[in-house]
Amino acid sequence: MKIKAFIAGLLALAAMSATAGTPIYLDESQPIEKRIDDALSRMTLEEKVKILHAQSKFSSAGVPRLGIPEVWCTDGPHGIRPEVLWDEWDQAGWTNDSCIAYPALTCLAASWSKEVSGLYGKSIGEEARYRNKTVLLGPGVNIYRTPLNGRNFEYMGEDPYLSASMVVPYIKGVQQNGVAACVKHFALNNNEVNRHTTNVIVDDRTLYEIYLPAFKAAVTEAKAWTIMGAYNLYRDQHLCHNQYILNDILKNEWGFDGVVVSDWGGAHDTNQAITNGLDLEYGSWTNGLKLGKKNAYDSYFLADPYLELLHSGKVGTKELDDKARRVLRLIFRTSMNRNRPFGSLCSDEHYAAARRIGDEGIVLLKNNASVLPISLDKVKRILVVGENAIKMMTVGGGSSSLKVQREVLPLDGIKAMVAGRAEVKYVRGYVGDITGEYNGVTTGQDLNESRSAEQLIAEAVDEARKADCVVFVGGLNKSEHQDCEDSDRTGLELPYGQDAVIEALAKANPNLVVVNISGNAVAMPWANNVNAIVQAWYLGSEAGNSIADVLFGAVNPSGKLPFTFPTSLNNVGAHRLDAYPGIKRTDGSQYIDLEYKEGIYVGYRWAEKNKLKPQFAFGHGLSYTTFAYGKATADKKTIAQGETITVSVPVTNTGEREGMEVVQLYISDPKCSVDRPVKELKGFEKVSLKPGETKTVTFTIGTDALSYFDAQRHQWVAEPGQFVAHIAAASDDVRSSVKFELK
Ligand code: BGC
Repeated sequence: MKIKAFIAGLLALAAMSATAGTPIYLDESQPIEKRIDDALSRMTLEEKVKILHAQSKFSSAGVPRLGIPEVWCTDGPHGIRPEVLWDEWDQAGWTNDSCIAYPALTCLAASWSKEVSGLYGKSIGEEARYRNKTVLLGPGVNIYRTPLNGRNFEYMGEDPYLSASMVVPYIKGVQQNGVAACVKHFALNNNEVNRHTTNVIVDDRTLYEIYLPAFKAAVTEAKAWTIMGAYNLYRDQHLCHNQYILNDILKNEWGFDGVVVSDWGGAHDTNQAITNGLDLEYGSWTNGLKLGKKNAYDSYFLADPYLELLHSGKVGTKELDDKARRVLRLIFRTSMNRNRPFGSLCSDEHYAAARRIGDEGIVLLKNNASVLPISLDKVKRILVVGENAIKMMTVGGGSSSLKVQREVLPLDGIKAMVAGRAEVKYVRGYVGDITGEYNGVTTGQDLNESRSAEQLIAEAVDEARKADCVVFVGGLNKSEHQDCEDSDRTGLELPYGQDAVIEALAKANPNLVVVNISGNAVAMPWANNVNAIVQAWYLGSEAGNSIADVLFGAVNPSGKLPFTFPTSLNNVGAHRLDAYPGIKRTDGSQYIDLEYKEGIYVGYRWAEKNKLKPQFAFGHGLSYTTFAYGKATADKKTIAQGETITVSVPVTNTGEREGMEVVQLYISDPKCSVDRPVKELKGFEKVSLKPGETKTVTFTIGTDALSYFDAQRHQWVAEPGQFVAHIAAASDDVRSSVKFELK
């Protein structure tokens, strides 16, 4: 009894000292939820509403009276966006907001390296922290459903397992800086055209198996502190306030305790915003100023209209407290964490990180006759052709556009690598997009060219005949209808007549390397006539250096494709089934219904089901060395539900250079009561091997990797029977398989 009383006394004393001195919400020795309770109890209704909507383009209010700071957001996801004016997208004109552009997320996904993903997140997180941001608007993990989606370059490819695996280290890396990652765009935002009016129709199995896993991993494994709703609709509700996706799945099923942020202008209705899961509203296009309000932000759906409903008693405070609690939790996790590091900007380490990500993500698609790496012992005259060799790619493309401290162009990277050991000549070859401006940031490049296409090709061919080696650098760019937000591409073909230039060059010189810069698959009708093809993505500040690293063999390429390169759009499920970009409703409304008719058969799942040979398959990527795979073996023949099985395979570097190989594990369920893909990625490991070295790669397979989503029962089901584990170097290059049984 005495001891109990003593302890109670001690506790009372502790509580008194907390309240007598530092208020609980400021006392960092207290648990965060207790601090939030305390802060919340001190806030007025008006203050609670105030923290739920923007106060400028990229910020929202804190509680100044209590010393609770504002929230500041920044795009994302490839670098820290330059500062814009308070109320406008135009530049604020700062001179200290240049950043490093990291390679686009497609490149990160192509590295198939979780370590590289962690490095990416840590580095960009440090830049966000240095710039004093609370939330980094990224990464994006919408699944690559069609190669026409203008925003695929900001995402992590077509496979749910790959994108789920790659997104987790990025988020952890960002958040270790006390900066919140904001995973976007949740969910089903798989094309840009009509993005505000498209209502996606998709069955539950497809939703859970294909479109949700990366978001789920971001929330449940990486513990992302915020998530951004998508612009489009699902079940006739905009995804920024969507009962099913935000409340039922995100908050209830996955237990998300962070903040749902609207995409900029993605909120449309106060009542839905209150009840359907939105917490923090940004970018709404109100007519507040016209109504004579003192501040347009007061007219946001979660501002005065919400306050009026609260004051009139038409809505209660349950949702309000929940939203305010989440926003406070975000602030406590970030700006109110006094122990978070200070960050750094444009450091040597960050440039090195950007270069490494590029080096590991570039994919060597084809290399006949060992054209690559270019040997400077033999090659003395190099011809570089193509606009993308001299075009800055960090400006444009929409909200991910950046103001970089520097950007090494491919031509300059090549020249620096060659450094006088060979002659490097450049000719244009074709003219694409000569503009270079986004929201007031300009590249300052003059890409004007007045000669005709014929003249440019003739010049290129003439020079190609004289060269020992030709490097064509082309592909897409960040202008409208290329790899760009708010519009989609209009076809799979390369634009600006590049096919004709490549065909002509291939005839003129067999030592031709085509470097394709894009965030999307492109048609390559000339692929058989070209000896070497490199997929180079948007590589950011160190683009030219990374490309040169691979072309000249300073780095041995190790990237693998995170999505299929089909030979034609007709070989993509969404297009084959005429399920893009949807059908306009006949009821006079602006809405478009888009049914994902191909279901779970996205990317290689579609190609394999229909026995289509792609131009380059998911998971494909070559090296300057060769790898031999031994026989895959399993540690048992049967497993029971809930058990795991391990599959091991020895991999040997049989070539003469050190290199990295991405060993892939796919699972097949040949006999099942439901239709299943031929095989699905369920594991991968990037291993580094010296010449002659062998390493054994081991995968642990749980029943989750064997399951499909049973929509009727609303649960994952692993059906007993036989399964096959395939060890592969690419989805179309299985090296060894092993069977096992699930009891
Ligand atoms: C984009 C988001 C971006 C936001 C803020 C929107 O248009 O869809 O991805 O984070 O703008 O720039």
